[in-house]
Amino acid sequence: MATRTIKDVRNTMKYLREHDPEGLTAIEKYDKWAATYKSDLELMEYQSPKLAADIIASNFNGQPEDALVLDVACGPGQLPKWMNKHGFKHFVGIDGSKEMIKLATETGLYKELKEILLGPNPLPFKAGMFDVVVILGALEPTYVPFSILTEMCQVTKPGGLICVSKTNHMFDDGKSTVDLEKELQTLVEKGLWIRIERKKFDKILKKTCLKNNEEAEGYTSGTIHLFRVPSV
Ligand SMILES: C[S@@+](CC[C@H](N)C(=O)[O-])C[C@H]1O[C@@H](n2cnc3c(N)ncnc32)[C@H](O)[C@@H]1O
Repeated sequence: MATRTIKDVRNTMKYLREHDPEGLTAIEKYDKWAATYKSDLELMEYQSPKLAADIIASNFNGQPEDALVLDVACGPGQLPKWMNKHGFKHFVGIDGSKEMIKLATETGLYKELKEILLGPNPLPFKAGMFDVVVILGALEPTYVPFSILTEMCQVTKPGGLICVSKTNHMFDDGKSTVDLEKELQTLVEKGLWIRIERKKFDKILKKTCLKNNEEAEGYTSGTIHLFRVPSV
């Protein structure tokens, strides 16, 4: 296959956006994108998995090598590579896309992977199973619904960490970011978790195109949030 360029990524994203009206679900889009998804993310210089791993590692109190980590909407499985560098070794992944699960399997870094559409189906894990639970780039309208956040709190051990990342996409005028921030704060007020960190980064992803498909320069910003589930 010829080497992909940022222009190819732009065309892929444009294609996927234009097929919205034809009713492609988020999962069908990821299945279609899978063949070039990993190299496209590299071209876009996607940073969230590395940044999340650094923030988790600097706030984790136990022995990383003993910790069990759940990667919700794991996509092609970028997170374990970066958490490995901090000594984390045990990963479980879940995603609704068959093709993404295949890519995640190829990394060889997950002890278990589940193909499940979240929202209609709950997280299939017992309460308090995980030391760290992570969701990166998947709390978007039409992707994983906010109700997953309460489920994530339930499957995290008391005192465990939850990491959430949000990319400020150029398509939605910031509404999805505002809505997510409100939801995260609601869970703080309900006492489901305690906020540990909220870090904004100017460069999470290279921009490809704007709402009207005009080419875009520069980078998209994003935020990594870290919470701790209260100890009982
Ligand atoms: C932007 S990708 C993020 C992948 C990975 N977390 C990362 O940051 O590299 C979004 C992922 O969410 C998954 N996804 C979207 N909606 C989902 C749902 N309702 N249930 C399960 N997975 C979903 C997609 O298949 C895709 O792999």
